Order: sequence, then structure tokens, then C-alpha cells
Amino acid sequence: MSIDVAVIPAAGRGTRMRPATRVVPKALLTVIDRPAIQYAVEEAARAGAKEAVVVVDLDAGHLVAQHFSLDGALPGLEDIQVRPVVQEEALGLGHAVSEAAHMVGDRSFFCLLSDNIVRPGHDVLASLGSGSRDGAVSVMCLRELSDEFLSRYGVVIPDSDVVDGFLDLAGAVEKPGVKAAPSRFGLVGRYVFTPEVFSILEKTSPGVGGEIQLTDAIQELGKRGRLRGYVAGESLLDVGTPEGLLIASYELGLDRYGPELFE
Ligand code: G1P
Repeated sequence: MSIDVAVIPAAGRGTRMRPATRVVPKALLTVIDRPAIQYAVEEAARAGAKEAVVVVDLDAGHLVAQHFSLDGALPGLEDIQVRPVVQEEALGLGHAVSEAAHMVGDRSFFCLLSDNIVRPGHDVLASLGSGSRDGAVSVMCLRELSDEFLSRYGVVIPDSDVVDGFLDLAGAVEKPGVKAAPSRFGLVGRYVFTPEVFSILEKTSPGVGGEIQLTDAIQELGKRGRLRGYVAGESLLDVGTPEGLLIASYELGLDRYGPELFE
């Protein structure tokens, strides 16, 4: 089954990246020579998406939209249409994704958080799509987390062993911490969702932090038996923190310019 649409939530104000994000939206912070969100759109295009629905906030959304529209399409992005949608209130990641519902309709879709940039040569979207049982289940990209990250990421509830990288999941918990974590497999910002997630999100009440959490909708997909995971290892870089941004710049810089640059 081919997936032709991606949803990219980019409305976050980036509190972990202050003061850089006092004016500039988090999605437009630069990694080497382009904003974080451009990496996500490029990745979606490589996986065959023809449309990228970018969810932006009221204050800074026009800047994100302009980045993609000014002077025509960006090089390499000629075959993907970037369509902004405004999230008027910051009600959480789940709410941001649900704002794309009318653009996506009844299609399965990729979801990419632009806080996470894929390592060069480690694309995962095609693998996630191939595990979707022809659009019957949603597929989560996972990484084994060390203790400190169990309180920073959503963590899934396994329901089978890992076979060829995939496992069945019974659900997920948002930022459980070490004691409550149901496993070490964390949600790392790449998902394939069936459109069923939109009707679930409509009924999802605010969870952790008073926000409508995407992870709570993932929990419901697990309860319904239509959730799988794909263990992608260390393929993603987290640019949502200053340390992560530094590591990502170094790793992408190594790939772009070679180790000589740092000698
Ligand atoms: C969000 C999700 C969380 C996921 C994380 C990945 O959290 O809610 O489940 O593990 O992204 O980066 P945030 O980073 O927005 O707090």
C-alpha cells in the first residue's frame, strides 16, 4: 500500500530551546543550512508523499508557510505540496494532528515530528508503511531508551516478541518515568496512522500536562488490537534540546562535509 500524505506538527513554541525560540518558531531553527522542518518534508518526499500537511500556530505559522512558498518550490521538493493548517490554540500534540483531519480524509498517513531528524541513510518511513498490513494497522517507530529518556518520551506496551524488527503493541503511556514504564521501547516521532486515529482523537480528553496527547490515542489503537511497532534503533536525532541540536549538527555535518572538517 502506498502512502501519499504526511502530517507534520510544527506548532510547538520550543520552551526547551529558549531563548532561541522567543521569536523564531522551533520548526525554523537551523540545522547546518536549513530549518528542522525542511528535513522532515524532504524525508516525507523521499518516502513518496505528494502532500505534506504542516500544522502551524497562529503567531508564527505564516513564517513556516512562507519558507516553503517563497519563490516557488525548494530544490528537491518539487514533487510534494506543502499545505499549512493553523492550530488556533495550543491544546497538545494530539489536537495538532487532529487539525489535519479534513486535509487527510480517509487515507493512512505518515506523521513526522520535526523535533526528530533522521540520520542520513537511515530512513524509516517505508519500513513503517510496509508493516501496516495493507492499511489495517497503525505502526509506531521505536527505539530502546535509557532510564533518563523514559520520562521524556511516550513508551509502548509490547504484546509480542520482536520478529524481523516488528512487534504487536497493546498500547502506550506518555512519559511514564522509570518506575511506571511498561517497556524500554520509546516513541521517537515517526508514525504511520490509519485514519481511525482522527475519530479517536475527537473523543480523547486532556491527559498528561492538561494536553490532548497523541499517545492516548495510540493507547486506544492498541486496545483495539490495531497497533504495531517497528524497532528502528538509533536512526533519529532529537533536535528539540540544545544538546540534541549540537549532536545533530555534528552528525549531519560529518555526513555533509566529511571528518576532515573537524580535524
Ligand atoms: C512528543 C510525544 C512523545 C514522543 C516525543 C518524541 O513529546 O508526546 O510521545 O515520545 O514527542 O520526540 P514532546 O517531545 O513533544 O514532549
